[in-house]
Amino acid sequence: MNDDIEKVLYSKEDIVRVSQKLGKQITQDYEGKNPLVVCILKGAILFMSDIVREIDTYCELDFMDVSSYGNAQVSSGSVKIIKDLDVSVEDRHVLIIEDIIDTGRTLRTLVDLFEHRNAKSVKICTLLDKKERRVEGVTPDYVGFDVPNEFVVGYGLDFLGHYRNLPYVGVLKPKIYADN
Ligand code: XMP
Ligand code: MG
Repeated sequence: MNDDIEKVLYSKEDIVRVSQKLGKQITQDYEGKNPLVVCILKGAILFMSDIVREIDTYCELDFMDVSSYGNAQVSSGSVKIIKDLDVSVEDRHVLIIEDIIDTGRTLRTLVDLFEHRNAKSVKICTLLDKKERRVEGVTPDYVGFDVPNEFVVGYGLDFLGHYRNLPYVGVLKPKIYADN
């Protein structure tokens, strides 16, 4: 599987460093607020599990599965809720954990939804921000890395369901796309 990678953009060590830095900021910002930390499945699972271990204040965790991409590399433009939260966001400080913001459609939809459900506040923490591709006005509050406009895999991010288990973020060799 590692052989399919053309280049590593963010190593395991880079990600550890950035998670520690963001975790410290989040700890300060949410002290005493008991936030609901929401992981967007499946892409954000690795980032979620690393970052919450760097958050040293009381918080609760929940999970939401949404789909905007289907199985392809091109955004379909609409966002579908596959699994909703188990708990209510009403009167809660919500911190969304995401793997990557691309067009911004997914996060725009979720922020609007949580605000509509009367969350006390809604903030976004994303590992990667692909700013160049933004079509919706979404500004994340915590960002790991600004990523160039390339399709990336690893550390939760997939191509056709694979590569989520790579411990780093990288770019696939062109031949992998050609073969699929
Ligand atoms: P939007 O466009 O709604 O998309 O901001 C966010 C979702 O799109 C997926 N995405 C990617 N997945 N490599 C991936 O594996 C990428 O380069 C990429 N860009 C966007 C991702 O699932 C994210 O939640
Ligand atoms: Mg995703």
